[in-house]
Amino acid sequence: MKKIVFAITLIFVGYIAVAQKQVSIIPEPQFLKVNNGNFTFYKNTQFIAPASWKPIAKYVQQITSTSISTLQKGNTRIVFKENKNLAASEYTLEATTNTITIAAKDYAGALYGAQTIVQLWYTTNTPSRIACVTVKDKPRFDYRGLMLDVSRNFYPVSFIKNLIDVLSIYKINNLHLHLTDGAGWRLEIKKYPLLTKQAAFRTHKTWKEWWKNGMGYLQEGDPLAYGGYYTQNDAKEIVAYAAAKAINVIPEIEMPGHSDEVLAAYPNLACDSVKGRTGEFCIGNDSTFTFMQDVLTEVMGLFPSKYIHIGGDEAAKGHWKKCTKCQKRITDNGLKDEDELQSYAIQRMEKFISGKGRYLLGWDEILEGGLAPGARVMSWRGEQGGIEAARQNHDVIMTPGGTCYFDKYQQNPAGEPEAIGGFLPLQKVYEYEPLPAALEKDKQQFIKGAQANLWTEYVPTQEHAAYMIFPRIIALSEVVWSNSAAKNWAQFQEKLTAHYKLLQAFNINYCRPSNRIDIKTSIDTASRSAQISFNSEQFKPTIYYTTDGTNPTTASNVYAGAFLIHEKATIKAAIINAKKSAPDSVLINFHKAFNKPVTYQIPYSKSYPAAGASTLVNGYRGTLTYQDGQWQGFTSNMDVVIDLQKVDTIHLVQANFMQIIGPGVYMPKYIEVQTSVDGINYTNQGRDNNTVSPTESSLLFKDFKVQMKPTAARYIKFVSKLQSGFQFIDEIIVE
Ligand code: ACM
Ligand code: ZN
Repeated sequence: MKKIVFAITLIFVGYIAVAQKQVSIIPEPQFLKVNNGNFTFYKNTQFIAPASWKPIAKYVQQITSTSISTLQKGNTRIVFKENKNLAASEYTLEATTNTITIAAKDYAGALYGAQTIVQLWYTTNTPSRIACVTVKDKPRFDYRGLMLDVSRNFYPVSFIKNLIDVLSIYKINNLHLHLTDGAGWRLEIKKYPLLTKQAAFRTHKTWKEWWKNGMGYLQEGDPLAYGGYYTQNDAKEIVAYAAAKAINVIPEIEMPGHSDEVLAAYPNLACDSVKGRTGEFCIGNDSTFTFMQDVLTEVMGLFPSKYIHIGGDEAAKGHWKKCTKCQKRITDNGLKDEDELQSYAIQRMEKFISGKGRYLLGWDEILEGGLAPGARVMSWRGEQGGIEAARQNHDVIMTPGGTCYFDKYQQNPAGEPEAIGGFLPLQKVYEYEPLPAALEKDKQQFIKGAQANLWTEYVPTQEHAAYMIFPRIIALSEVVWSNSAAKNWAQFQEKLTAHYKLLQAFNINYCRPSNRIDIKTSIDTASRSAQISFNSEQFKPTIYYTTDGTNPTTASNVYAGAFLIHEKATIKAAIINAKKSAPDSVLINFHKAFNKPVTYQIPYSKSYPAAGASTLVNGYRGTLTYQDGQWQGFTSNMDVVIDLQKVDTIHLVQANFMQIIGPGVYMPKYIEVQTSVDGINYTNQGRDNNTVSPTESSLLFKDFKVQMKPTAARYIKFVSKLQSGFQFIDEIIVE
């Protein structure tokens, strides 16, 4: 009798284990097997580790001692073991019902094994118990980073530590601090006390107010001052705290540009041609190099990082052209131009830094005028700089703006705190591949990894910073750690639903999964049909939709897969839940100009061609970002002629424009339409003036329209008058 009961229990236990097989580890391990049964954490669970890994064991113990079952006694243990046969950062993890064994070669590997346990602990559905698993895991890339700009907005040490705690759980191993920039110097330097006394505090709380109101600095201690800096003790504390979490902290000290705050405190380091504010050091002045070397000597004393970042980006070279010292430097050194002058400065710094046994790291502008011999490159203006540096056998970290700049909007800007512009939703981060297809196979070894950058011009609080970072950095963690073949968006979405609990436990503010429906259209020109499909950040939501322009309700169609549209239709789709978001919509219109030839009297911007000459009449509508390949950009007036290829009767010409003033995108002053039967004689059909204020700072769209009585026309001339900066247009609809 007893035997039978035992057998039934086994089957039952096995059944339960199968039913809850799903575990949610991010980044996805290289090998993961979920076994039967659970490991239970008790009050007296033993933690056994070699001396140097005891802090790791203690960390897991602290986290797992906060639950009900830890009141009970049982017989389980967690054993950390050294295994010299594993690679750096690699770990194996075997969790059985009574023992978890984590093996690693080094501290980082042991910590990553521990972090996998920590994730299982927070994401389990059975408190105090985690699934028995077998994991063999190691990173795809050595470099997995996040940059935080602490100059544009200063964040306290407590925030940096909290960030480190959570980054480490996702196996991010580099935190790059942008410590200096025009908005404030953020690190105590003993030899140059004025840097923090005079240039670490400013007149206005937010960068935006400060930027608009004269960009002044205030003395430390001034009652009106905003800002702050890390003392050298703070820096040591951050470095040590990060090291315990296997995170290297990279200091960035900007040169030769982005240095307004230094030159406010030490104006003798600016070019003699400068009157007033400047951001560039004088490269002809030897004091500039003395200054940089002195500063970096202190910096290297505080930060053991093998990478020392010297910025190098976006230096305006105009002052150097007019400065007698800079011009003398060019002549004395046989340099060709100001690009080579910048390269001279970087090469001189590279010699200094490599002489101290470190690597100079810089933004991709350091390629201009010739890359210094040992320099490492962060590719931010797309991937081309990274590709070129790798071809020259220099190590590269990919951080292209389009997929790695976390200062962009992550959801519909209409409902978001103001950001600098752009659109980088979670899925786009997740789909990023750091190895460029264009890079030769034998050069791919030079791509060391990727990094997300949070620039903080529009990020005035720590809660907001966390919001911009999470969950996008969790998506990036899988990009840089997991094998690309193991990446799976749907599975990631499902896993992520279990991780919000972890973020909440660490008091991390994060962007909630959007209710937005990404309506994808795929147009077949020949059959004049559009295939419509929906995508969402929610995991397996019920999506309701209509095709007649009415707002969807729970009585509307339920989305069950892609469908075809053959006629003009307004598709509206929504997830109907507690958040009560407005539906998303797209207009499908095979209008009279659809797929007709367009000629440009004035060319579009080379930077924003979208799909070239077909863009304006291809049936696709621009989405939330001008970088989506549908919005065509102009830095001039726009003047195009559409040829309907036969005389037709028309009564309406309309086009959509966007405004987002952060990056300088404005509505046109007006649009104007003329029609012609022969392409020679045109009749003016009218104008539509802008009604949107140029100071309105949220993302806005406006359809400009010219209506007319039914008119015979073959040629339509469409003009829009530039207001300022850029104008972006998509789809000229003719009916
Ligand atoms: C940068 O975004 N200027 C590196
Ligand atoms: Zn100069």
